[in-house]
Amino acid sequence: MPRLALLGPPGAGKGTQGRALAERLRIPWIATGDILRQSVAAGSEVGRAAQPYIEAGDLVPDDVMVGVIRTRLQAPDAREGYILDGFPRTVPQAEALDEMLEALGQNLDHVVQIHVDKEVLVERLSGRLICRDCGTAYHIRLSPPAKDRICDQCGGELYQREDDEEETVRSRLAVFGERTQPLAEYYRQAGLYREVDGDRPPAEVLAGILEAIGQS
Ligand code: AP5
Repeated sequence: MPRLALLGPPGAGKGTQGRALAERLRIPWIATGDILRQSVAAGSEVGRAAQPYIEAGDLVPDDVMVGVIRTRLQAPDAREGYILDGFPRTVPQAEALDEMLEALGQNLDHVVQIHVDKEVLVERLSGRLICRDCGTAYHIRLSPPAKDRICDQCGGELYQREDDEEETVRSRLAVFGERTQPLAEYYRQAGLYREVDGDRPPAEVLAGILEAIGQS
């Protein structure tokens, strides 16, 4: 099974596709944003270190993130493949990942960037609702739940992420351009990079990713 990293700006659909790919390929979906939000809620050391950066729409320091991923990749369920969503996000994180994988005798098979234009991203994030219990994402207008603020999948309460406020979204997009976009070239040079159009219905984006990684 593949070891795949999903790249893309905030709101591109990494979480939506990561969840769908994990179900389809039966491998774990490792989303660093979700791990950090759980750590914040639990009041752990990682959570306390990450919280001010998340609230400001900035990146959490590389050493914190590398520690989080190093622990997660050593878990037994990560032996046979996984989907990384939100990591790596900087060139130093990508270099640290290469070193970690080498030590584990593994390698990354594919890096897929989901491309969506900026104004579409702002609209998607400012209307996003997320289930507190199962994490499924909805959109107030584009993909609303059947019942107001209730998850169709599990009946959990839907909430809006604090960092989805428009000004913070614009900071997150700027940070993506400066610090994460250089990874496209990093992985292009490694021969792993693919790009898919994320501005179409989720099922079509999923089909595009599966085709890009030779799993269609
Ligand atoms: P993280 O949680 O990773 O946020 P993000 O990358 O900003 O991405 P999002 O979760 O906002 O969007 P997404 O691409 O998953 O889109 P989604 O599928 O939800 O990170 C949060 C913070 O944690 C960061 O800002 C940073 O501080 C920190 N962090 C995390 N990892 C880090 C790292 N490695 N290093 C340093 N800091 C780190 O979709 C969005 C919306 O669009 C939803 O409403 C959805 O329903 C809708 N949608 C999805 N696909 C489609 C489609 N095809 N058509 C129409 N609507 C769609």
